[in-house]
Amino acid sequence: MSSQRTAPNALITSARGSRTTIFLKILMAVSGLTGVGFLLFHMYGNLKAFGGEHKFNHYAEWLREVGGPVLPHTSFLWAVRITLILAVIIHIYAAFSLWKRAHRARSTQYVVRRYAKATVASRTMRWGGITLLLYIVWHLINFTVGRVNVTGGPTDNRYQLMVDSFSTWWLTLIYLLALAALGAHLHHGIWSSAQTLGLTNSAKAKQTALATAILISGGFALVPVAVFLGIIA
Ligand code: HEM
Repeated sequence: MSSQRTAPNALITSARGSRTTIFLKILMAVSGLTGVGFLLFHMYGNLKAFGGEHKFNHYAEWLREVGGPVLPHTSFLWAVRITLILAVIIHIYAAFSLWKRAHRARSTQYVVRRYAKATVASRTMRWGGITLLLYIVWHLINFTVGRVNVTGGPTDNRYQLMVDSFSTWWLTLIYLLALAALGAHLHHGIWSSAQTLGLTNSAKAKQTALATAILISGGFALVPVAVFLGIIA
């Protein structure tokens, strides 16, 4: 009698649990893809460095002036910043909640084998994500909030700050390693998001994820490598 009563309850709980998991995965996918949009824009902007100091610094100024005189100075930049901060908070919240749920599910014996493969991927994503977060903190200190010029050179000229930074071998190495971690994170993350959002053709999703990851990480890597080789000076 009691088992007849608990079985439907268990089913309802499990259906609710699945709905929450799907909702969290959608949050994860949408916030992640917002980040991908920012990265494509940022990567394209960085390529202005190939046009020289004036073009690069002019572009950085334009980012602050766009929308004016109708909108106040830096309003576009602040809109991007706020969207990005919200996306990062949602992404971390969803990742943490999904991790907790998977952890709870794994403690149930019969699902252990089913989740084993997924665990390797999610562990890589989790540690990769934490690495990227640390990188972003350093990157903001380096280029935006703190403007740290490790060579002791000027900090008010964005172009010069970038050239000085990537003329320093260990800083270039840190950036290239972070970009490799970013590429791996994007590769799995975009594929996973595509599946969540209904792109069920797995081969196509995998190709799109790989191409986008290479485009973003490779595009970002061009500037530090070009500075290091003296092509941008
Ligand atoms: C070699 C690669 C990169 C270079 C040379 C670079 C360069 C820069 C520069 C010069 C700025 C300051 C822009 C300004 O104040 O006008 C900046 C800001 C920023 N970058 Fe990067 N970046 C790189 C990669 C990345 C990556 C991979 C991420 C994220 C994972 C990222 C996230 C940001 C963020 C969030 C800001 C702050 C935007 C703002 O609020 O002003 N960057 N970057």
